[in-house]
Amino acid sequence: MHILVIHGPNLNLLGTREPGVYGSQTLAQIDADLSEKATLAGVELKSFQSNHEGALVDRIQAAGSDGCQFIIINPAAYTHTSVAMRDALAAVALPFVEVHLSNIHKRESFRHHSFFSALADGVICGLGAQGYQLALAYALEKLKNPPKRPT
Ligand code: DQA
Repeated sequence: MHILVIHGPNLNLLGTREPGVYGSQTLAQIDADLSEKATLAGVELKSFQSNHEGALVDRIQAAGSDGCQFIIINPAAYTHTSVAMRDALAAVALPFVEVHLSNIHKRESFRHHSFFSALADGVICGLGAQGYQLALAYALEKLKNPPKRPT
């Protein structure tokens, strides 16, 4: 039983990548913070980053049968293009929160559409790395008190 955090392309460069847009924390720091919080709550947290759409689809598919209970995902640029990742999330039918460090709605119009949002429990954007913490707080609460009826 665990929570899976999935990071899409270029997020491995966090810390040096456009810090004015994405902040100065590295991906390793973000993952370590999440892991620590999850452990304190008695839940295992796994993280996965890839720059490859197929690898991300494969990881989402694996989550359907490896004990994953919840996904926190920042699909990064694939947010705006990937029907394949969206379909994989629909196929495994796991609850997920979509996170973006930047406020995609304040940015270029090509970032305004997400293929994921309509399937997500919720979407957090524009709050920097704190968005992941808020998504984790939601996931932990949901795992503690699963909904009685499908939502
Ligand atoms: C992002 C926003 C995307 O538009 C962009 O392609 C990213 C990161 C974010 O976290 O703000 O790579 O998902």
